[in-house]
Amino acid sequence: MHVLITAGPTREPLDPVRFLTNRSSGKMGYAMAHAFVHAGHSVLLISGPTDLEVPEQVDFIPVETAADMHAAVANGIGRMDIAVFAAAVADYTPACVAAQKIKKSGATLTLELIRTPDILGAARENFGFTGTLVGFAAETEQLEANARDKLLRKQCDLIIANDVSKPALGFDSDHNEVLLVYPEYNEALPATSKHALAHRLAAAILELHAKLKT
Ligand code: PMT
Repeated sequence: MHVLITAGPTREPLDPVRFLTNRSSGKMGYAMAHAFVHAGHSVLLISGPTDLEVPEQVDFIPVETAADMHAAVANGIGRMDIAVFAAAVADYTPACVAAQKIKKSGATLTLELIRTPDILGAARENFGFTGTLVGFAAETEQLEANARDKLLRKQCDLIIANDVSKPALGFDSDHNEVLLVYPEYNEALPATSKHALAHRLAAAILELHAKLKT
């Protein structure tokens, strides 16, 4: 099976020395890349900047911005059977990038931000992806309702929802706890290491893929 995985944060530049980003470490997406390779599958990992080592036997495309990640996914997803979107993509990017370092001036500074492309949302409609589509949902409230809304809007087969307000789980942690939101039902997976969780998630996604293809 050919599996595309997005991971890590994106960096949206403000000027030559500053950018907007988030606390994603890439650990969840990289653990999933490792788990799919371990299960004998071919993985294309498209990742924003992280401190992690690229898992062995993974095809790797490093990206910086949401626009870069959108282009890399658009280019690669056509060859894939399964796509898993674990990246924490910036929803907004500065409307313009200053050519020179922004100087201090007034007491406040207002930034104008514009929407980035919704990469997961583009998978079906714009990229014509017909394989098994798995998104993540990072929520701080109404976990199941918000994840189910994303499942429908983005035409996913599964959303892996995590409550990122829980201490020591989710962003930049070695552990996570998730709710699998399928069209017909949910399944809660208890807190465990991202490494162990990734193996369970890969098995669940492969099982779902087999079911959808029959
Ligand atoms: O990287 P770690 O430190 O290990 O942390 C893991 C994680 C918390 C980042 C991961 O488990 C996770 O939840 N990833 C998704 C984070 C997120 O941005 O979720 P969201 O609910 O804002 O986005 C919903 C989905 O749309 C996600 O699959 C996201 O990759 C995708 N998306 C979002 C915006 C955008 N412009 N393009 C996208 O593809």
